[in-house]
Amino acid sequence: MIITIDGPAGSGKSTVAEAISKKLGFIHFNSGTLYRAVCCYLLDVGFDVENIKFDTKIKKFNISVNYNGNRQIVLVNNKDYSAHLRDNNISALSASVSVNKIVRDTIDNCQRKFSKTHNMVVDGRDIGSHVFPNADFKFYLDCSIKERARRRFKEEKSKGNKITLKEIEKQISSRDEIDKNKTYAPLVVPKNAEIIDCTKLSVDETVNLMLSKIKR
Ligand code: DC
Repeated sequence: MIITIDGPAGSGKSTVAEAISKKLGFIHFNSGTLYRAVCCYLLDVGFDVENIKFDTKIKKFNISVNYNGNRQIVLVNNKDYSAHLRDNNISALSASVSVNKIVRDTIDNCQRKFSKTHNMVVDGRDIGSHVFPNADFKFYLDCSIKERARRRFKEEKSKGNKITLKEIEKQISSRDEIDKNKTYAPLVVPKNAEIIDCTKLSVDETVNLMLSKIKR
């Protein structure tokens, strides 16, 4: 069974996907992690990732996903970039990387292959619309930009990072802009997806609401 959760940056997709997958005993497949890992790899091999949009010279790379317990481990050409996936520059640059069609096709194939042998909750930006249009259940998790920025600000503050709320709001808004305006597989509400607005909901309320809609 495949359950998809799409939505804008910072809406809490991976947190709720993690909780739902635990409840159902499914794999949580975080597709953003694959884009982040590919971004790290391309930086590692010296690519100008900010201008990668229509670059067709990217050599074929191999991407594989494994699990150590619940921990998703993504290898690109056999290298593990886990330590850098959440760096602030990777959050911004992976949005540029995700516009490239060679990158998207490679990641799409990896996800589809993985789904053949696993029940999974997949979160991302194009999962129910493009990667798995025939998924069993599809959600679109929405949230106001102010609330998304507030949540991320709290998270960064707890890590001791000195970024301001205004800067975070600007970063999120620029990622929304890129995600929604991609020529290939942009962020949209997938056909037949249940829209959940979690602006005023806690994580537990959101998870319970979503679980109540999943019939097995
Ligand atoms: O969810 P995230 O912040 O970890 O995602 C990192 C980047 O990857 C994000 O800027 C957009 C891109 N992405 C995508 O284009 N399609 C997906 N299915 C998931 C992520």
